[in-house]
Amino acid sequence: MDGATPDTSGKVALVTGSTDGIGRETALGLARQGATVLVHGRDREKGRALTDRIERETDGSAALLLADFADREAVEELAAAIAERYDRLDVLVHNAGATFQERGETDAGIERTFAINHLAPFLLTHRLLSLLDASAHARVITTSSGLHQRATIDFEDLGMKEEYDGLEAYGRSKLANVLFAYELARRLDPASITANAFGPGFVPGTRLNREASRRFRLATGALGRLPDTLLSALPGPVNTIEEGARSPIYLATDPEVKYVSGHHFENRSPVLSAPESYDPHTARRLWEVSAEMVDLPVADRSIGRDGSDPSRLLDRATRALGRS
Ligand SMILES: NC(=O)c1ccc[n+]([C@@H]2O[C@H](COP(=O)([O-])OP(=O)(O)OC[C@H]3O[C@@H](n4cnc5c(N)ncnc54)[C@H](OP(=O)(O)O)[C@@H]3O)[C@@H](O)[C@H]2O)c1
Repeated sequence: MDGATPDTSGKVALVTGSTDGIGRETALGLARQGATVLVHGRDREKGRALTDRIERETDGSAALLLADFADREAVEELAAAIAERYDRLDVLVHNAGATFQERGETDAGIERTFAINHLAPFLLTHRLLSLLDASAHARVITTSSGLHQRATIDFEDLGMKEEYDGLEAYGRSKLANVLFAYELARRLDPASITANAFGPGFVPGTRLNREASRRFRLATGALGRLPDTLLSALPGPVNTIEEGARSPIYLATDPEVKYVSGHHFENRSPVLSAPESYDPHTARRLWEVSAEMVDLPVADRSIGRDGSDPSRLLDRATRALGRS
């Protein structure tokens, strides 16, 4: 991070999936800057261990909220519990994510990777929008992955009923994350709320692979064993958990990106995402389909930004950051 560490005291930040991995490190980083961190996960013990650590070791404070993102009602209850306890939300980091070897469906009949990684943050953002609006300035950060680059959104078979592949399903959900972040940015005024996505790089030290497909584990396991000289030749960065958490902490708190919105970052720099992620028609269609899938009335906000030219978008972000 350039310059002094931002002071985040007094800010309220929700980090989803912060009981482990990159989310836990992000929560700790925000708490070290003085934030009140809402730790979210499914496991009470892991959550308590983190909230205790935050209270003990940092200037920030923490509260624990549990919700399984495969359960739509649990997402609703999470949003309601936050609205009951807090009058505003300054930072929302969508980090919770999973990948599965076997195809599975939620109780609502939705393929679970898509439900957990995309629909839950989509619904949660809508339910928390008034709290984000109540902040003097709020930031929404969505965690994507380099694997979004190889994915497509097939609206005819979003849930991969025809042919399931865990790696493809994960990549698709991560492309949906980027499309969502860009569409959210189009719909919001960056003077009030910004929306960005980031890829943490390949972070072999987390538990993401635990239920992953064999292809996914082989791909990531093999990468994890490559010597540094070969790893440095890979297109995306290979990061420790601490390094993976730097981008979300930066996007959540650094003054230089306060009004930067609608971009994709890696290692705290704006980078191009997949060509399909810049298609506003796909983004709008995904938004509408997602709204239907979670039974949400489509918010009637007009798209106010012309953002379909990726190189212009990247130029704009680079200029805004003074890095041209
Ligand atoms: N690791 C990488 O190489 C990598 C690369 C690119 C992108 N990412 C993204 O980074 C984010 C964090 O991943 P990670 O690598 O840190 O994985 P991780 O160590 O497995 O942590 C994932 C977090 O999400 C939570 N979570 C998983 N399923 C959930 C569900 N159904 N409901 C609620 N919470 C759930 C987990 O809670 P539990 O502890 O209860 O399981 C955990 O807190 C994900 O969005 C992932 O897609 C990771």
